[in-house]
Amino acid sequence: MKLSIIGSGYVGLVTGTCLAEAGHTVLCVDNNQAKVKELQAGHIPIYEPGLEELVRRNVQLKRLSFTASTQEAVANSEVIFIAVPTPPQDDGSVDLSYVEAVAREIAEALPAYRIIVDKSTVPVKTGEKVAETIRRYGPKGIEFDVVSNPEFLREGSAVADLQKPDRIVIGVASQRPVAAMRAVYEPFKAPIIITDLNSAELIKHAANSFLALKITYINLVAAVCEAGGADVTQVAEGMGSDARIGRAFLQAGLGYGGSCFPKDVSAFIRIAEEMGVDFGLMREVEKINAAIPERFLKKIRASLWTMRDKKIGQLGLAFKGNTDDVRCSVAVELIRRMAAEGAIIRCHDPKGGEKAKELLPKNVEIMADAHQVAEGADVLIIATEWPEYRLLDWSKIKTLMRTPRIFDGRNLLNPAEMISLGFEYTSIGR
Ligand code: UDX
Ligand code: UDX
Repeated sequence: MKLSIIGSGYVGLVTGTCLAEAGHTVLCVDNNQAKVKELQAGHIPIYEPGLEELVRRNVQLKRLSFTASTQEAVANSEVIFIAVPTPPQDDGSVDLSYVEAVAREIAEALPAYRIIVDKSTVPVKTGEKVAETIRRYGPKGIEFDVVSNPEFLREGSAVADLQKPDRIVIGVASQRPVAAMRAVYEPFKAPIIITDLNSAELIKHAANSFLALKITYINLVAAVCEAGGADVTQVAEGMGSDARIGRAFLQAGLGYGGSCFPKDVSAFIRIAEEMGVDFGLMREVEKINAAIPERFLKKIRASLWTMRDKKIGQLGLAFKGNTDDVRCSVAVELIRRMAAEGAIIRCHDPKGGEKAKELLPKNVEIMADAHQVAEGADVLIIATEWPEYRLLDWSKIKTLMRTPRIFDGRNLLNPAEMISLGFEYTSIGR
């Protein structure tokens, strides 16, 4: 089928590429001309494991192409996906201006029946507003359907998540687009759940908020483990073996960040409370999660006595491992706070350094090699769960540091091993 995706970012580009890989002809649209040129030249502006070769392959097979023109996309595709940003506003509500603008552009270009699919994470009832907008700005008499098809891909495993989804959710206001949407996803051989429009939109916010709640719960249990001399990884193992709980998303650490959970939780709270539902539970989740970085810094401050002029090495800038995305990254937040207290900081990230630069104070050094952050350091922090940090030469790191103190914010390393290497090793809940 001929499809187009409007908004070629972490969500749109990966979705478009995987749909092309599944055999469709996909046109990815972006209003950032520079980005379109980069993509046409085969340069991928984001890091996602496996994405680069998939883009190259499908561009070569002429199944994937890029344009800045929404008009061209609407003229040539039967299904048009909207994957533009839905960023949080200061008051926590969702900024839908990009979605509204794209809906208008699509309406003005409608030549015949089209299916418009909202993939961006949006508050419930947005689909109805998109339909209203297209009716208002579109040519009279031209029919269309609006569908909600929320994405559940995790950054760092987006290609895998998209190619083997647990389920595909499709929200519709009539039966007409169902056959075409089934055809779009047929190659993925995954369970397809057809719901009404509002339920599909709500599934996304409800799922993400639940995952944020689950992470926050294990971080609370970690605090009790520290006070109670227990090991949160063993507690998580014991809890997670219960099929009703499940082991995933019980990894205690520095709390959740990224471009989704923080904004989706605050959006869900706003949506619920605008509908008169008291969402204190999720407000509490936000509060607990926001307090985790300070709790972690307190441990470091206690060990250093004073932060000013101390040399601190930090491994990790991205909001999680296997991504270059630094949006709402706790790792960046830690550096900002320690720099504000006068610490001298060297940091490293396998992929996120470039994007982190403009977010960090000027005097923070981003090193090319992870071991360099240890040179003369009083303390070494692990802030992002990059698997490759497990493989560093830790005995060499010990000789490089002024004092061998490690604060592992993601429970990445093995406590017994680090202590046997002669480190003072602190982690979360262990
Ligand atoms: C975004 C939202 O953050 C997320 O909530 C939603 O589920 C999907 O879209 P993401 O892909 O991470 O996720 O955003 P980003 O990486 O910023 O990509 C958005 C792309 O859309 C950018 O390339 C931007 O240039 C483009 N864009 C933005 C348009 O093409 N048109 C617009 O009007 C606005
Ligand atoms: C999330 C959802 O998982 C995905 O379904 C949705 O489409 C987008 O939002 P993402 O934000 O990319 O995906 O990454 P995720 O793996 O969910 O991690 C989110 C944050 O939670 C990261 O900061 C990560 O470090 C943290 N996390 C995750 C934990 O602290 N513990 C865990 O057990 C899992």
